[in-house]
Amino acid sequence: MFLYSFKMHHLISMQDIKKEDMLKILHRAEFMEDVCNFKVKYDKWKDIVLGNLFFEPSTRTRISFEIAMLRLNGKVSNFAEKPSQTSLEKGENITDTIKVVDSYCDIITIRSPNAGTARYASEISGHPVINAGDGSNQHPTQALLDIYTMQKLKGKISGLNIALIGDLKYGRTVHSLISALAMFNARITLISPEDLRMPSFIIEDVEKKEDVRINEIYDIDVKDINKKIKEGKFDIIYLTRIQKERFADVEEYEDVKDAYKITKDMISDNTIVMHPLPRINEIDREIDNTKNAAYFAQAKNGVPVRMAIIDYLLENFYGDKVFVQ
Ligand code: NCD
Repeated sequence: MFLYSFKMHHLISMQDIKKEDMLKILHRAEFMEDVCNFKVKYDKWKDIVLGNLFFEPSTRTRISFEIAMLRLNGKVSNFAEKPSQTSLEKGENITDTIKVVDSYCDIITIRSPNAGTARYASEISGHPVINAGDGSNQHPTQALLDIYTMQKLKGKISGLNIALIGDLKYGRTVHSLISALAMFNARITLISPEDLRMPSFIIEDVEKKEDVRINEIYDIDVKDINKKIKEGKFDIIYLTRIQKERFADVEEYEDVKDAYKITKDMISDNTIVMHPLPRINEIDREIDNTKNAAYFAQAKNGVPVRMAIIDYLLENFYGDKVFVQ
């Protein structure tokens, strides 16, 4: 009997990544920090071109992918951020856009307002594709940098009490993060307004695959939650922005927009506060200069982690192919 081991060529969803691949990427990210700090020289991907395809607003993800590729000595072509600046506005079909970009580049990152676009791109592309966020579905590279940051700050994830708070319905970062946390045996609590609960299919997928029990609190009455946070019940609280752009009804957004706000006096000394950013008013700025704040460290870790992802996928894809230098 032959055993085929399929190498990971794309990063589309945390729901289908293997823990083994995740561990390799996280380990590689440490090496990439040394590359960023000029401790080691690494130019295996010199002149390889990344097509950075963003059809939705982005600051950190787009820029950190660009910097990641530049730090790997590769090159980057940034495609217009708004469909209105591309031929999509002229009625071009996304299939044609992806096919053409695929013929120009060696690896593609794609952000789209529509769930499923990155997976579709990986199916029609001849090169590795990385999902940089597809609608309210998945944001796997964010989950990897979140896990990396947690491990660095707490030394482990197994057994930690971690609360994911805010818009768990539309927030793609938490849809990816929950699967990753479960693989590391974290104790996960979901806290959201009732209307913004994590979709049940995601929770079911996690509980089916991993031996974890997800604790859900979906109540807009925040008193009890605040008490738990203040008492230090959570090692990490991961806040998310209420995803205004995904609401069909503005009034529904107005009802929940200020559901959770964390101030300095509400957290215990040992609680780490995380957020994928951008924040609106979920975290008071007075927390920024405390040792609790980890959101800028998260953003910083985005570069070495994305370098590791690009490096890993390119290596799996090109194998030992030698490029003429
Ligand atoms: C997040 C996103 O785009 O999903 N931002 C990010 O990539 N760091 C979170 C958000 O927009 O709220």
